[in-house]
Amino acid sequence: MVNLDDVGRSGAWVPDPPAWWQREVIYQIYPRSFFDSSGDGIGDLPGIRERADYLAWLGVGAVWLAPIYPSPDADLGYDISDYVNVDPRFGTLDDFDAMLTTLHERGIRVILDLVPNHSSDQHPWFVESRSGPGSPKYDWYVWRSSRPDGSPPNNWESYFGGPAWDYVEPPGQWYLHSFDRGQPDLNWDNPEVREAMQDVMRFWLDRGVDGFRVDVLWLLSKDPELADNPVNPEWGEGGPPWLRLLRANSEDGPRAHEYARVLRGVIDEYPDRVMVGEVVLPPARAVAFHGERLDEAHMPHNFALTELRTWSAEEIRPVVEEYERQLPRGAWPNWLLGDHDFPRIASRLGPERTRVAHMLLLTLRGTPTWYYGDELGLPDAHFPPGTLAMIDPQASTSPERDRFIARTPMQWSAGPHAGFSEVEPWLPVASDDGSLTVERQREDPDSVLSFVRSLIHLRRRTPALASGTYRSLSGPPSVLSFERWHPDGTVRVHLNFGATSQDVEVDGAGRILLSTNEPPETRAGGHTMRLRPYQGVIVRTAAPGTPG
Ligand code: NOJ
Repeated sequence: MVNLDDVGRSGAWVPDPPAWWQREVIYQIYPRSFFDSSGDGIGDLPGIRERADYLAWLGVGAVWLAPIYPSPDADLGYDISDYVNVDPRFGTLDDFDAMLTTLHERGIRVILDLVPNHSSDQHPWFVESRSGPGSPKYDWYVWRSSRPDGSPPNNWESYFGGPAWDYVEPPGQWYLHSFDRGQPDLNWDNPEVREAMQDVMRFWLDRGVDGFRVDVLWLLSKDPELADNPVNPEWGEGGPPWLRLLRANSEDGPRAHEYARVLRGVIDEYPDRVMVGEVVLPPARAVAFHGERLDEAHMPHNFALTELRTWSAEEIRPVVEEYERQLPRGAWPNWLLGDHDFPRIASRLGPERTRVAHMLLLTLRGTPTWYYGDELGLPDAHFPPGTLAMIDPQASTSPERDRFIARTPMQWSAGPHAGFSEVEPWLPVASDDGSLTVERQREDPDSVLSFVRSLIHLRRRTPALASGTYRSLSGPPSVLSFERWHPDGTVRVHLNFGATSQDVEVDGAGRILLSTNEPPETRAGGHTMRLRPYQGVIVRTAAPGTPG
């Protein structure tokens, strides 16, 4: 726990010493797509174990695994039918233990996805619950009767589209599902549900996992009256259907923070574990999930960089400053460029701009979460209609929001199926370009992979980057410049997000630690540096810098 008396304005303190989850890069693995060791076209836990040396070589300090539990796949693992087991397609509990040991031996922590808001409709809890009000599990889910006209209990809509209610007979009632109908929402207002989920956490923490990423943390509490959601006044006919209503009553309810503390309480029963939370809310409400006493998520995910539109320095600077300002005192920041729910960064920005975005992610103050495959510059996949055996539940209602495009197999080699599997993988690879593979890029010092690896290692050995303070610097248009101060040395970062060259002022005695590509020339006796379009540099300053 941070002693708040020791902490100044949020951007201006240095954790001493930083916890592992503050100083390391977290690497998200989508297990189904990382490495198939069993030859069934689906990635698995022994496959992750086999690739532990790659992760260590890359330099990541932790992995976050998307759900590995038994699941009927209504939402690929986010519909869990047994919280305390491993899906046989991914392996066994013994395989899990072996993977954990191997990763731990390499100094890599393991964070599991915890999905407490909903189970699968095939979980024994739900099967029992739907037998009706006489069942001891009836109140574990959210059941309501029809309105007098026979319609669902309220107007709430699923995140995947359509009503958030499904009618079942028996019990002749509707159950709530914020996502797919195969994902009934658990009733968090029932203390037995909270206790059951705490036991799930202990099961995995006792096995040695290092923490959880909590799925949809902000959804656990809903309006107790289940009142209708208001219509979004900014929505017009023809607008995206999922934005038609404001989710005022169906999310971030009155007990949301209490429930976050229920989860954090279990984390704190164990030494040195972490709780990361998925919270998709406007920044001020998202950072509130650190907790008033920093007793909720250590890091509610910060999605600000996924929302950028222009990726100009002028857009990014206030976003960073605003987030820094809104963080509660003593709260540790975090950043990500995307995850399994977003199009890939290389496709969002194009190959020219991707490296400067990588440099931004790995030099901002706070823990970066990396998405597997982005280190190769993997693009989104395009699936010709009707070619996939299964589809993303979100794409079934909104094809333009297909999330499978960014969940394709990791590309290891130029062999069949990019070396991911010996058989046809569950999803085709995103690209047949042999240069988009670990095998090729490892050997090429100019590859995206070599660049990202250098960035990660530089970040690891440079305290200013790993845990220093943040301070914006002024610079020419289109360049984002900032300083990271640390008692052990200060660095300055200059990122040109523009399509034209720009001169930045530098401290003549400074030393370039890393550049996105060929280092820039210095001019004016070493006092200016000409950045090429989309070029970024990290410079060690000779001067001590300013602590934020
Ligand atoms: C958020 C997860 O990231 C997403 O993939 C999933 O569909 C929903 N939560 C529901 O669990």
